[in-house]
Amino acid sequence: MKHFIDINNFKKKEIDEIISLAKKIKKNPKKYSSSCKDKTLGLIFEKQSLRTRLSFSVGMQKLGGSVLELQSKDIGFDNKREKPEDVLNVLSQYIDCVMIRNNNHKQIVNLSKENILPIINGLTEFSHPCQILGDFLTLLENFKNYKNLSIVWMGDYNNVLRSLIHLQNIYNFKLNVVVPNQIFKNYKNEFLKSKNKNLKYFDNPSEGVKNSNCIMTDVWVSMGEKNSKTKYFKNFTVNKKIMSYASNNAIFMHCLPAKRGKEVTSEVLDGKNSVVLEQAKNRMYIQQAILIYVLKK
Ligand code: CP
Ligand code: NVA
Repeated sequence: MKHFIDINNFKKKEIDEIISLAKKIKKNPKKYSSSCKDKTLGLIFEKQSLRTRLSFSVGMQKLGGSVLELQSKDIGFDNKREKPEDVLNVLSQYIDCVMIRNNNHKQIVNLSKENILPIINGLTEFSHPCQILGDFLTLLENFKNYKNLSIVWMGDYNNVLRSLIHLQNIYNFKLNVVVPNQIFKNYKNEFLKSKNKNLKYFDNPSEGVKNSNCIMTDVWVSMGEKNSKTKYFKNFTVNKKIMSYASNNAIFMHCLPAKRGKEVTSEVLDGKNSVVLEQAKNRMYIQQAILIYVLKK
């Protein structure tokens, strides 16, 4: 049984195949309009979602499949009425795969090991792999070749960054991680495990973003986290000045939702180098490719 939990569970060839399929679906959606015929996807959101909810839901319907949104509390997926494994056992009698967004990465890893139903990670506190594959598609559309790319992540050390590091370990583009030292010190050991010479840490934003092709950021406080860490991000807003240190054609990326005036100014978010809406759109083609991948026997 196939699952989609984290990018680092995959070989390059498999990720290449998912990306290539997403490109084909985008180019010729009609050809795939029956790819998931008679298949049903369940969606479980234990946190808010706009893009992930819509891209999975609309994406699955465009593949000829159907979608059921399952309220975690209503179906008893909260470990109070019955065990989550038992809920999945029952779900597997009716539906073909499930996407889960929760605050408990270990739970979805453990559930995937049970091989009851294909599970897709729709974001956890640990990672957001669907987002980063969609973002890679956007990068490839903007730059054609990833090999000479120099990407900057500026802001918090979070789930989206972790999936970006997983991707960097596969494709080996240059990745500068620009995170306040007070935050980074909590993740240093995890970061150093990568041992990749194209992966570098900076705590000085103007130095870290120099000559890069893309500056990527995200909210400073992720869903389910405390606000108290915002004090560390004083010089970490992506503004026009920060963008001016990057290459002339550098793009700005953000998974959204954005907090305008915090991690990014409106001028950059709405500016000509911003590709945030392309990113949101590409989520759908990637979700469709992931769905076809996990549902393939
Ligand atoms: N980027 C993203 O995952 O957005 P949502 O939280 O709205 O799904
Ligand atoms: N890091 C953010 C991503 C939202 C799509 C969060 O987890 O809230």
